[in-house]
Amino acid sequence: MRILITAGPTREYLDDVRYLSNASSGRMGYAIADAALQAGHEVVLVTGPVALEPPAGCEVHHIETTDDLLNSCVKLFPSCDGVIAVAAVCDYRPVERVRGKITKTGTAVTFEFIETADVLAELGKHKENRWIVGFALESQDPRENAMRKLKMKNCDCIVLNDTSAIAADANDVEVLNPNAETVAQFRGAKPEVAVKLFRWIESQIAPL
Ligand code: CTP
Repeated sequence: MRILITAGPTREYLDDVRYLSNASSGRMGYAIADAALQAGHEVVLVTGPVALEPPAGCEVHHIETTDDLLNSCVKLFPSCDGVIAVAAVCDYRPVERVRGKITKTGTAVTFEFIETADVLAELGKHKENRWIVGFALESQDPRENAMRKLKMKNCDCIVLNDTSAIAADANDVEVLNPNAETVAQFRGAKPEVAVKLFRWIESQIAPL
């Protein structure tokens, strides 16, 4: 299979120097990319800026903003069999990006933010015979929120984790299907969880 994997954070610039982003290390996404490669698949990795080397053998596309992620994914998805969306997407961007550097004035500043594009929801609209695995990072009402995302983004399953996963070595994930049933659970170091999760996706979701 040819598998699209998104990983790492996106950035939204306030000016040419400062940005809003998510505290994501990219480790989970890179570990899943590695697991998919080891299992003999073609991996297209669309990655935000992280301090990691992409696994050797991936087709790598580096992106920075959510719009970059959207444009790359929209282009690449049609040539793939499925997507695993692990990216920690920055959901807000300033209404206006200031050119140059905003100068301090000694007083508080106010920025107005609007939502960025929902990349996975966009891919979900053009799913056709492809499969979609989403991630959901939740701090409250985890199952309700994860199920809302699964439906909104047209996912075949969603991998629920909580905020303790951010930039951590380990992860504890629960996989929910469209009937809101827990169909798998994995816990441990991110590379181990990635291998088990990928095997599960390969056997249960990918043959769809
Ligand atoms: N995602 C995406 N584009 C966005 C936001 C999220 O493609 N703008 C993807 C993520 O990669 C993940 C899934 O959608 O696979 C859910 O991401 P998450 O951050 O948990 O939820 P959001 O949709 O951003 O909603 P909220 O921030 O309200 O929890």
